[in-house]
Amino acid sequence: MMNIQTMPHRAPFYGGLAAIALSVFLAGCAPKNGGAPGMDSTSSASAMPTVDRGKYIITTTGCNDCHTPWTMGPQGPAPDMTKMLSGHPAGMMIPGPAMLMPPWMAAGSMTMTAWSGPWGVSFTANLTPDSATGIGAWTQDQFVSSLRTGKHQGTGRTILPPMPWNWLGQMTDADLASMYMYLRSIPPISNKVPDPLPPGMQGAPGRMVPPMPPGGFPPGMPPPPPPPMPHHPRNK
Ligand code: HEC
Repeated sequence: MMNIQTMPHRAPFYGGLAAIALSVFLAGCAPKNGGAPGMDSTSSASAMPTVDRGKYIITTTGCNDCHTPWTMGPQGPAPDMTKMLSGHPAGMMIPGPAMLMPPWMAAGSMTMTAWSGPWGVSFTANLTPDSATGIGAWTQDQFVSSLRTGKHQGTGRTILPPMPWNWLGQMTDADLASMYMYLRSIPPISNKVPDPLPPGMQGAPGRMVPPMPPGGFPPGMPPPPPPPMPHHPRNK
């Protein structure tokens, strides 16, 4: 039987996991650098911030997946790098939240820049240095503290999902400064991203996410009724 045959392979695998867990725990005990949780003082953390380091981090940590609008390319949908990091396109109409049936919780627009979920609809920010619509007027401190605190520019409203500020904000001071330096060096793009839509029954009636009940949707809850279908000549 499958289970018994795989048993001998599993034991060393779990042993390996335990070793990794131990080393992660020990790293957590090392002296902290720059107030960044979980980073020890021997990492690249202590390096001086540079544009190149920022480019490396921004490119490898997936910012473009959400902050660069996707378009249909030869291999299917992909980020449109002519609009690199310019956020949700101002011209794209979002009529309201996505309609989802439990257990589905969230949906992304075809550009991957508008995100619907129990928080309402969030739109990814313009991270280019355009001073009116991007981060051109942000100080480094505002940029770093937005990722550290999860508040807009470090002091404003709560930053909504799926922006992973709580993970990104655990980078070192030098890495966060490098990201800011790189973002200030990329081509500015003027694109005014809309404000988020609140949760609930916004937009077109009958096509909404039902608000998440406290404690989440109970398992086996019947799906909400389908929206009224407009008459179509093919469906007599
Ligand atoms: C899974 C999607 C996703 C990824 C990946 C992502 N973001 Fe975001 N980001 C968002 C969304 C959505 C918002 C808008 C949130 C809101 O309006 O509350 C946002 C907002 C921001 C903001 C504005 C914060 C503020 O103070 O208003 C900054 C800065 C930012 N992101 C930087 C980054 C950087 C840098 C990366 C990569 C290291 C990144 N994001 C990766 C989705 C994402």
